[in-house]
Amino acid sequence: MRNVTRETVTDAVVASLGQHGEISDRQREIMTALVRHLHDFCRDVTLTHGEFIEACQFLARAGAACDDKRQEFILLGDILGVEVLADMLTHPVEGSESESTVLGPFYRENPPVLPKGASTVQKHFDNEETVYFEGHVRDAHGNPVTGVTIDVWEDAPNGLYENHDPDQPDYNLRGRFETDENGHYAFRAVRPVAYPIPDNETAGELLRYMGHHPNRPGHMHFILSKDGYRTLVSQVYDADSDWLDSDSVFAVKESLIAKFEKAGDDLDTDLRVSFDFVLKEGAAEAALAAE
Ligand code: BEZ
Ligand code: FE
Repeated sequence: MRNVTRETVTDAVVASLGQHGEISDRQREIMTALVRHLHDFCRDVTLTHGEFIEACQFLARAGAACDDKRQEFILLGDILGVEVLADMLTHPVEGSESESTVLGPFYRENPPVLPKGASTVQKHFDNEETVYFEGHVRDAHGNPVTGVTIDVWEDAPNGLYENHDPDQPDYNLRGRFETDENGHYAFRAVRPVAYPIPDNETAGELLRYMGHHPNRPGHMHFILSKDGYRTLVSQVYDADSDWLDSDSVFAVKESLIAKFEKAGDDLDTDLRVSFDFVLKEGAAEAALAAE
């Protein structure tokens, strides 16, 4: 089409979809909505050409910041609340099932497989508080679910995940456990501390542009999976942590907050946490690692 105007350009782009190559119904749906929303956004803010170029340069910097350990676009999506929204649209909570939340960029596939009760700690820190984490996994009818694979990962007491800290051993504070015949899981770890998401590249630029801070409350990440059940990607938050009410990635859900209690004499850890999960029957799906 020639001679598009401010009034006709949106319809012209939408009408061009699929004109010179086959596209699926889903591609058409996504691109139609994307073009309409994007054009409305440009009109709403009266986007200048200089701002358009700045945005392109910002995205180029974001791409250049990505490597096999850093996925800058997940961070940008998280800061804008897009990952948590996509998760809620994909996994609407039904009935008693546990709530999911964001995967984030720090998951690594194939963590060390450990026996029930084992520790994920490979390196000690002066300020660490050890914790015994345990609970039951049940189905929506309250029956124990045995043989559930549980991947856990967390930051170290210095606020860094192992794969972003050259001074931590490979796979420190990561492990894969399984529920026993009663649907019970347990592992030893350290109390996760609040930490800032990586903000030295474009994620930091965006946070400052939005007038937000980079911090997340202390949390333990979980992925629970078993054939015949919907894979649950979630996090358990420390009830005494800062930032529960202003998480930089909007991922805190009330139902995922747990109290880290002082452990009794029967345990060799400083603290204990009990947290139960409810899995919904359905098709399992892979959680995609950012690496
Ligand atoms: C995380 O919980 O590890 C995380 C989530 C979103 C952005 C950055 C980190
Ligand atoms: Fe995290």
